[in-house]
Amino acid sequence: MTINMTLAHALTVSAFLLVPAAVNAATPSELRAGALKVLEPIPEKMTGGENDTPARVKLGRDLFFEKKLSANNTQSCNSCHAVDHNRGGVDNEPTSPGAFGKRGGRNSPTVLNAGFHVAQFWDGRAKTLEDQAKGPVLNPGEMAMPSEAAVIEKLKAEKKYVGAFKKAFPGESDPVTYDNFAKAVGSFERTLRTHDRFDDFLKGDNKALTATELKGLDTFLSIGCTT
Ligand code: HEC
Repeated sequence: MTINMTLAHALTVSAFLLVPAAVNAATPSELRAGALKVLEPIPEKMTGGENDTPARVKLGRDLFFEKKLSANNTQSCNSCHAVDHNRGGVDNEPTSPGAFGKRGGRNSPTVLNAGFHVAQFWDGRAKTLEDQAKGPVLNPGEMAMPSEAAVIEKLKAEKKYVGAFKKAFPGESDPVTYDNFAKAVGSFERTLRTHDRFDDFLKGDNKALTATELKGLDTFLSIGCTT
C-alpha cells in the first residue's frame, strides 16, 4: 500500500514537471484554426425559411405563446419550451406536466437552434419543425386538443387570428388551417438561434474570449476531448 502510494505520487509529480511552459501557449489564430477543424460557428440562417415573412414569424410567435391551443386553455408551447426571460427554451423539469397535470415520459429539449437539427424529437421521429409542431397540440398528455378541426374552430373564433393568418398567408381563400398553423410556428422557431462569444471568436474576433477561456480551448483541443 505504502509502496503504491509513493509510486503514484512520484508519477504525478513527474507528469506535472512535463507540462509545457506557458511561453509556448498557442496564439488565438492557431487556436481558431484548430477549432475550425472540428467546429463551426452557428450559421446565420436555418434552411427552409424562404417564406418566413415578418407577418408569418409574428403569427408563429403569437401561436407559440397561445394557451388556447390547449384543451383547458392552460398550456402553450412556451409552457414546456420557455423562450422568454432568457429561460433557454426549456422548463427545467425532469419531465413536463401536460395541460391536465400528468407528466410525460421524456424531458423537453430546448427549441433554441432546433431548426438546425437533421430531425426533431429525441428519437428523430419528426422530419421538420412543421411536422413536429402538429404533435403536441393533439397529444392527450400535452395540450390535449381533441382534433385538428377543434383547433381551427378555436382559432377562427378569434378575430385577431383570422386577420393574422390572412396577412401571413396572402392570397389563400381559407388561410386558417392546421398546416398553416404549423408553418407559422416553424417560421417563428427559425428565429430561435443562439449567438455566443465563441461564434464571434470563430469568425475572427481575437478579443471575444478571455485569456482563461482561450487556455481552456487550448486544453480542450490538445488533450483529445475533440475525439
Ligand atoms: C407538455 C410539454 C410540452 C408542450 C406543451 C410542447 N412540447 Fe415540445 N416537446 C416536449 C417534449 C417532452 C419533447 C420531447 C419528446 C420526444 O422526444 O419524444 C418535445 C420536443 C419538441 C421539439 C423537438 C426539439 C428537439 O431537439 O428534438 C420541438 C421543436 C418542440 N417540442 C416544439 C414544440 C412546439 C412548437 C410546441 C407547441 C405547438 C410544443 N413543443 C409543445 C414537451 C412539450
